[in-house]
Amino acid sequence: MGLAGGLSAPALLSGVGRAYAAGDDIPVGLLFSLTGAVAVVEHTLHDAALMAIEEINAAGGIHGKQLRPIIEDPASDPATYADRARRLMIRDKCVSVFGSYTSSSRQAVLPVAEQRNNLYWYPTLYEGRECSRNVMYGGALANQQQDILIPWLVENYGPRFYMIGNNYVYPKEENNYCKTLLKDLSGEVVHEEYVPMGHSDFSSVLNRIRAEEPDVIFSTLVGDSDVAFARQYHAAELNPEKMPVVSLTRSEIEVKAIGGEAAAGHFSSAPYFMGHESPENEKFVEAYKARYGADAVTHFVNEAAYFQVYQFKNAMEKLDPADVSPPNIRDAAVGMSMKAPQGEILIDENLHTHLWPKVAQWQADGQAKVILQSEERVAPKPYAAYPGQECTGKGLVKT
Ligand code: ACM
Repeated sequence: MGLAGGLSAPALLSGVGRAYAAGDDIPVGLLFSLTGAVAVVEHTLHDAALMAIEEINAAGGIHGKQLRPIIEDPASDPATYADRARRLMIRDKCVSVFGSYTSSSRQAVLPVAEQRNNLYWYPTLYEGRECSRNVMYGGALANQQQDILIPWLVENYGPRFYMIGNNYVYPKEENNYCKTLLKDLSGEVVHEEYVPMGHSDFSSVLNRIRAEEPDVIFSTLVGDSDVAFARQYHAAELNPEKMPVVSLTRSEIEVKAIGGEAAAGHFSSAPYFMGHESPENEKFVEAYKARYGADAVTHFVNEAAYFQVYQFKNAMEKLDPADVSPPNIRDAAVGMSMKAPQGEILIDENLHTHLWPKVAQWQADGQAKVILQSEERVAPKPYAAYPGQECTGKGLVKT
């Protein structure tokens, strides 16, 4: 019996662990903040995921059925993410939910996805140390951003790092991994500090940076805080040639908000930059601009929000329509590769993604110039900072 085929109400399509009502379309949740402190980034994840859904629907849908996006705005508040995820997975019977930027919001949704045995497609770079069977991780892990970056920084700028981030799990865990790399390179953390989410006055931070004169400002600030910090760094006339800000989060979308001139000369590490040359990226950028305006930008997190919808489609299409369920979609997705805008990517048995790390320097026109890139696709290591622990297809293994 196909999804499109005449199941009579209230017939159910059932699969391992879950069943959902047959209808005329396939409900999928979009759980990205369109308001609040991280909306500057998340609205563009929403836009990219929605565009992929529209493209898939225009090409005939999946199993002849249209995807029906159900949109929720959790307003950058972790508790609201959990509440809206519950609504999407229970009331709206979504077979998958695509969502969120911060690790706090992912951690709020994760128990909901696990309780419902549903699937949460998370496109954002994050710190690892997770091995859920109900989250599909599309973003870069610490090893996929930092392994290429940190030795290059130490060699080219020096070993003295000043760490600045927002006060939550992601910056702390990324810094933890950075410290393990710095230790092997005889590096040093001259100062480490965390500011509240949405913090926007960096005058005392800038005074400390002036006093310390580190070689590198290692930033894990997110959203509005990153934008404010970059603008104030530039206004304070701190020189990127002497003390570059090196960010794991800053992408074309933050740079657009910062202004190209203020961002110029600083660095980011990411698996995708907008100027990447590939037929898939040309198509992605062209479609995105046609849909959202000539000055719209693509970046490494909305690229993942886009390709994850296609990973979902490809996994769905591997299944018999009668077997569609979140756990079956997950199992079908494992080992699947696809040509994404950044290059050919692969879903690991640990549900994270093999990606193409790059380091780039921001230019005054708001675009990134790639100065270093991995010659090979890099496997995700969610427990890279925790020797003796590994996430496998069977869950977390401790040796
Ligand atoms: C993040 O919180 N994973 C950027």
